[in-house]
Amino acid sequence: MAVAQIEFSKELESFVREWKDKPGNLIMILHRVQQEFTFIPREAAERLARDLEMPLARIYGVITFYHYFKTTKPGKHRIAICMGTACYLKGGQELVDETQRILGIKGAEVTANGLFSIDAVRCVGCCGLAPVLMVGDDVYGKLTTDQVAGIVAKYQAIG
Ligand code: FES
Repeated sequence: MAVAQIEFSKELESFVREWKDKPGNLIMILHRVQQEFTFIPREAAERLARDLEMPLARIYGVITFYHYFKTTKPGKHRIAICMGTACYLKGGQELVDETQRILGIKGAEVTANGLFSIDAVRCVGCCGLAPVLMVGDDVYGKLTTDQVAGIVAKYQAIG
């Protein structure tokens, strides 16, 4: 009996085919999978194990080693708070605490409405704006904790 497998887009399928036998392929492929699904679903990892003919444990070894890869679906609006040195020294942790308090979530949790998740990330490359918080691709710099509620409300309104 054929095993039901997760659907990949045509682009992803051909990317996997193209990279199948190249060295260092796994990370490249996982990036594309995460781009397509916003995280790495278990079924996608299982399919890659079959397509790339490699043990599932090896794939999960890479996924769990790099914090960048997610194994659960993030919120629609991904809040990334920079914990690089400059941001950390200027209150990055306080931004994390305040954002968690406002949204009522911790760690990799997603708000019940599916709208928000929070990631503490490494330097995002605009240290002059420390401390920095991003929502998707939007960058907010030189933030104080009392500005977080307004930013969250803006994305709440978009839904
Ligand atoms: S340390 Fe936060 S942007 Fe560089």
